Amino acid sequence: MRPSLAVLSLASVALATRPFLNEPDTGIDAVLGGTPDGSLPDLEAIQGLPDFDWAARRYLNDSSYTYYRNGAAGEWSYRNNLEVYGRYRLRPRVLVDITNVESTLPTTILGHNFSAPFYISPCASAGLAHPEAEANLVKAAYEEGILYIPSHYATLSLDEIAAAKPANGSQVIFQQVYLTSNDTATQEVFDQAKSLGSKAFVWTIDGPAGGNRHRANRYGVGSRNTNYALWTWAYYNQLRNMTDLPIVIKGIQTVEDVKVAIEQKVPAIILSNHGGRQLDSSPSPLEVALEIYQEDPDLFNQIEIFADGGVRYGVDALKLLALGVKAIGVGRPFMFANAFGVDGVKHAIQLLKHEIAIDAGNLGVADLKEIDASYVKWNNNGWFS
Ligand SMILES: Cc1cc2nc3c(=O)[nH]c(=O)nc-3n(C[C@H](O)[C@H](O)[C@H](O)COP(=O)(O)O)c2cc1C
Ligand SMILES: *[C@@H]1O[C@H](CO)[C@@H](O)[C@H](O)[C@H]1NC(C)=O
Ligand SMILES: *[C@@H]1O[C@H](CO)[C@@H](O)[C@H](O)[C@H]1NC(C)=O
Ligand SMILES: *[C@@H]1O[C@H](CO)[C@@H](O)[C@H](O)[C@H]1NC(C)=O
Ligand SMILES: *[C@@H]1O[C@H](CO)[C@@H](O)[C@H](O)[C@H]1NC(C)=O
Ligand SMILES: *[C@@H]1O[C@H](CO)[C@@H](O)[C@H](O)[C@H]1NC(C)=O
Repeated sequence: MRPSLAVLSLASVALATRPFLNEPDTGIDAVLGGTPDGSLPDLEAIQGLPDFDWAARRYLNDSSYTYYRNGAAGEWSYRNNLEVYGRYRLRPRVLVDITNVESTLPTTILGHNFSAPFYISPCASAGLAHPEAEANLVKAAYEEGILYIPSHYATLSLDEIAAAKPANGSQVIFQQVYLTSNDTATQEVFDQAKSLGSKAFVWTIDGPAGGNRHRANRYGVGSRNTNYALWTWAYYNQLRNMTDLPIVIKGIQTVEDVKVAIEQKVPAIILSNHGGRQLDSSPSPLEVALEIYQEDPDLFNQIEIFADGGVRYGVDALKLLALGVKAIGVGRPFMFANAFGVDGVKHAIQLLKHEIAIDAGNLGVADLKEIDASYVKWNNNGWFS
């Protein structure tokens, strides 16, 4: 265990009124604690998504691990993203025939078929975990039939990422973009990604100003955005004139902005606080989904709504799906899994698929498409503490 980080995590457990469970104790130290620093345990020993964080913390150097792990400022939003799911209870129904639930995992995202209602969120710099970088994520997503959204700040170029797809064009990926006022550069990335086969853009708008990243700045791996960007709805409409692909908006955090997105006929939005990396005290996607649901559950039918942040277990995904979220993004766990290469990312995908299916079965959900808010205790009585 790396001493600086070990001390940090013990200190936060000792000081918090409620212990912070970045890595809940499910016995991994007892079984895999002998894994030497700088090496990885057997992939088969990895039981769930949090284990990849444990493994990557020992395997990567401190600056690479910190780049992935980091949250904004005091990391309240980072912690809340993880903890919020545990504060809402499920309402399991019993004696329901759930034997076919696995076959109900497939879903559509903007009309494209995928094998599960979750995808790999765009995360920069996959090369810090593995030399093959984003190519591993492309291949694992294809083999498992899920969506991957490569970051505009990827280690590999757009061409290199596209080269990892099967040549027959049968893999659907969406391209995430960070845009500047340089319309020539914007037009170039739109045209290049389209010619390489991307089926949609995901424009990330939750960081119009630089991210406040204390932990990462210590290692010189903080936010790459340092300008104040002029991003408005008028600009969004200009962008739509520059491509005929759909432009999904990533980083919606209030019901007011969901309504504007519907008025503006945005095809899909992603509820996200950037994994708690941008604005500390920003809400977790589950809290935003609740805000939307409490205002008007039908909003989820008027636009495709995806969400990412803190999803580590099957039940976390189920709580979002229950409120009307159509697909769930997962960021850090896949970046950490990439330390093991393609097989690691595939293992992570398989674990989450399996957890969603068995958890849905135990919740009494026969068909994942039929899950609704009656399976979640979402009012104040649902709080644990
Ligand atoms: C290391 C790292 C890099 C990220 N880079 C990007 C990025 O380039 N573009 C983007 O839209 N979001 C980026 N994000 C945010 C993710 O897309 C996603 O919103 C977040 O990771 C979800 O939270 P989770 O990591 O708890 O699953 C990044 C997140 C991490 C952890
Ligand atoms: C998606 O799945 C549906 C239903 O299974 C099928 O009819 C359709 O052809 C599929 N679309 C593509 C592009 O594969
Ligand atoms: C940490 O590892 C990354 C990825 O291998 C490398 O680029 C970086 O230089 C290393 N940083 C330090 C401080 O060793
Ligand atoms: C496309 O190529 C991949 C990889 O070679 C192959 O597995 C898949 O069956 C092909 N799909 C189609 C529709 O030809
Ligand atoms: C805008 O982007 C284009 C294409 O990448 C580049 O050639 C040009 O120098 C950029 N302009 C400015 C002002 O940065
Ligand atoms: C988009 O292009 C159309 C046709 O050229 C033009 O009429 C419209 O004003 C443009 N919209 C924006 C927001 O630039």
